[in-house]
Amino acid sequence: MSEQPGTTAPDGDWMIDLPWALAALDTAVALVDGDGRVIHANDAARSLALRLDPSATPERLLALTTTDAAWQAARRDGQWTAEVAIDDPSMVLEVKLYSGPEGRADRRFATFSDVSARSVREGELQQRHDELQRTYRRLAGAQEQLLQSEKMASIGQLAAGVAHEINNPIGYVHSNLGTLQEYTAALMALIEGYANALAADDPASARETIRGMRERLDFDFISGDLPQLLAESREGIERVTKIVQDLKDFSRVGRDEPMRPSDLERGLESTLNIVWNDLKYKVRIEKHYGTLPLVECHASEINQVLMNLLINAGQAIGERGTISLATGSEDDEAWITISDSGCGIPEEALQKIFDPFFTTKPIGRGTGLGLAICYSIVAKHHGRIEVSSRVGAGTTFRMVLPVRQPASVGGSDAPAATPEG
Ligand SMILES: Nc1ncnc2c1ncn2[C@@H]1O[C@H](COP(=O)(O)OP(=O)(O)OP(=O)(O)O)[C@@H](O)[C@H]1O
Ligand SMILES: [Mg+2]
Repeated sequence: MSEQPGTTAPDGDWMIDLPWALAALDTAVALVDGDGRVIHANDAARSLALRLDPSATPERLLALTTTDAAWQAARRDGQWTAEVAIDDPSMVLEVKLYSGPEGRADRRFATFSDVSARSVREGELQQRHDELQRTYRRLAGAQEQLLQSEKMASIGQLAAGVAHEINNPIGYVHSNLGTLQEYTAALMALIEGYANALAADDPASARETIRGMRERLDFDFISGDLPQLLAESREGIERVTKIVQDLKDFSRVGRDEPMRPSDLERGLESTLNIVWNDLKYKVRIEKHYGTLPLVECHASEINQVLMNLLINAGQAIGERGTISLATGSEDDEAWITISDSGCGIPEEALQKIFDPFFTTKPIGRGTGLGLAICYSIVAKHHGRIEVSSRVGAGTTFRMVLPVRQPASVGGSDAPAATPEG
């Protein structure tokens, strides 16, 4: 072996004392000659061998843990390391082989360390890691389900309102159809009258009869009213179609779908449509919409956030009040604010409103999950929710979303909800 720079060749006496030095080591060491015979093993190596079986020698230890290929690798690279499991008795050894290079390959030695305990610990750690990962996957699934069922529950709560919203246009379309049926009968009678007149020998003499009929059947009124009834009915049907479509959009499960560039303002409008029945008797809506770029998101989830915020705003308003909706974008972010003129949130509650199950509403009215779910949806989108509030004056929630999601979804950006006021 070549001499290391900065060292001198050891003198002969010191080499004679080498076994003494090796005996002091806790690590098992076996010096091996060119033929693979153990020419010296320290005490640690001998006792390690004895642990294999009461008659085992360091040679046996070496034979059990090394191969020719391992020695060749040690000769090529200077060192070879591996963990070797010996089953009887169960033991894991870290084996290191050192060899001189080609030509000095007769200078070799091996060290052995018992790493069974470490290996068991690593095995346990790996097992725990696998368990954690399984739990994480189950939790993610459960959260997805929770999200979906909260959404369905809020739709359930809104069902009566939505049914009313649908029933209203259906009601007047139905009544319009009744009127249209009467008008049709009158028009058919009139056409019949004209046909009879035309078939008469002297059609001109029937002019008076026809005029009488037109008056009796109120033709002038019908011809004015009919287009209006048709337009109104069409509008009613369109409104029902829209509500049904909004509900369908809303209840879609977004799981595993990629986020898509979406029109947040459209989402806000259709969500407002769904909750409208709950708001319309006490709330005046003001809109200050800016220009919004398409925002990469799961639209149905963002609609769920908007719905929770709108419902909360409505619930915060006692008798009558205003909800203002504003939108805008700055840099690479888009925002929506929902401000209400409601009761406001006291300072000490402000810290807790995003906690699951924090609610100040009576049992049966609120579960305290609305804002916690908003928070997790917005966090998943790498956005944030900010809130500012004054007791007695009102509350503003502001949802800010990045226009494009960072390339590696689930990256390190920590989402934050920051109480401002
Ligand atoms: N716009 C608001 N004005 C005043 N207080 C609000 C407003 N939004 C939320 N809060 C307060 O935050 C609490 C938590 O809101 P969150 O939406 O999480 O639950 P909830 O509305 O009580 O119940 P849920 O949404 O599950 O039906 C509410 O109980 C209320 O005290
Ligand atoms: Mg709520």
